[in-house]
Amino acid sequence: MFSVAVKTKSSQETFAFAKRLGGKLNFPLVVFLHGSMGMGKTVFSKGFVEGLGLEDEVTSPTYTIVNEYGNPPRVFHFDLYRLRDENELYEMGFEDYLNQGATLLLEWPALALDYLLEPRLEITLSADMNTPDEREIMLATNHPEIMHILKKI
Ligand SMILES: Nc1ncnc2c1ncn2[C@@H]1O[C@H](COP(=O)(O)OP(=O)(O)OP(=O)(O)O)[C@@H](O)[C@H]1O
Ligand SMILES: [Mg+2]
Repeated sequence: MFSVAVKTKSSQETFAFAKRLGGKLNFPLVVFLHGSMGMGKTVFSKGFVEGLGLEDEVTSPTYTIVNEYGNPPRVFHFDLYRLRDENELYEMGFEDYLNQGATLLLEWPALALDYLLEPRLEITLSADMNTPDEREIMLATNHPEIMHILKKI
């Protein structure tokens, strides 16, 4: 597994970093967004989608579970926080979103980790209590093309 860490000092910086990454990862992939509440998973998603060249408004899928952007959809943006188990994931039709040639952005992805989703980018956002506006963004992947892009970012 290749991994790299980036630090940001504001939500604007996280947005800008994600936007730059989205501009380079312009092919269907699965992005797992790990990190506790308020770490910036949605901020990251907003930047990433804009980087893909989409103008759709990106909002938190907290209540909808999934939002789609682009027509036909190029991104499915999930927040699985409210789902209790794998069965609820299956029942919300998760499998219908796979293999549609769209990018998946997954906030609170624990229930989806067992699905063999490729190519895969694991992102973990974390913060230190002493510096509330800073985040460490860890990016990890096994995928050669994504690895190549991350090495240059
Ligand atoms: N460096 C930073 N990067 C990202 N967000 C930051 C940063 N510093 C402060 N913030 C703030 O942290 C919050 C991140 O909110 P966001 O909704 O993106 O989190 P989340 O991880 O999606 O949370 P949830 O688990 O509730 O979905 C925002 O209020 C944002 O302004
Ligand atoms: Mg969120």
